[in-house]
Amino acid sequence: MKGILISFEGIEGTGKTIQSRLLYEYLAKEGCKVILTEEPGGTRIGLKIRDLLLSAENRGMTPVSELLLYNASRAQHIKEVILPALKIGSVVITDRFIDSTVAYQGYGRGIDLKLIDFIERIVTEGLKPDITLLLDLDVEIGLKRNRGINKTDRLELEDLEFHKRVRDGYLEIAAKEPERIKLIDASESIEEVYNKIVSIVTDVVINKMGNNQSPNSNNQKSYKFGDW
Ligand code: TMP
Repeated sequence: MKGILISFEGIEGTGKTIQSRLLYEYLAKEGCKVILTEEPGGTRIGLKIRDLLLSAENRGMTPVSELLLYNASRAQHIKEVILPALKIGSVVITDRFIDSTVAYQGYGRGIDLKLIDFIERIVTEGLKPDITLLLDLDVEIGLKRNRGINKTDRLELEDLEFHKRVRDGYLEIAAKEPERIKLIDASESIEEVYNKIVSIVTDVVINKMGNNQSPNSNNQKSYKFGDW
């Protein structure tokens, strides 16, 4: 596959949506072919599934329904958006992907991780992000940030213990795959987090181009992403 798949992950309120937008704008300004998308959602069908999943009216949804709906949205997203973009050499930035399911439905809801892995293999056919930016933050601070902006969807209404299990799950997943998953302290300022992300992503783009020249904070802004 010619393109690069970058996923953003994290618990509620880490600033992943802002950071994925900033990265998108940075890469686009550098002349890079790039798209920004999200899960659940990203397609017409996915957006309908997103409504079902996030509506606070649907608090009676079973964990298995939830697992299957997130995966249904993903199957559609991969086929309609992600694969076509990767095939033409785009960078695809997705706000959440496979690790959200492992963290929320696996560690949060307690669904067997082997079952989640089995479904993931059917849905993704082996597609994994080249790089995952995991924004990590204290659970209470994250929830407070989101409630401060009145973001209270079905998952956010879960209790503190649920969100703590999700965060611990993310940290376990990151420990298992340190090459792919980069842990970023989201308690720092938006600008500090952004600078770290740009530096990590620049390295990934250069590696994929086969150029072993490593960027540093002084020259990263002048590196031409559009060249590859
Ligand atoms: P957000 O994108 O606005 O954070 O909302 C998505 C919510 O859905 C968030 O609470 C995380 C949750 N989620 C899962 O539980 N499993 C998944 O596979 C995905 C993609 C998201």
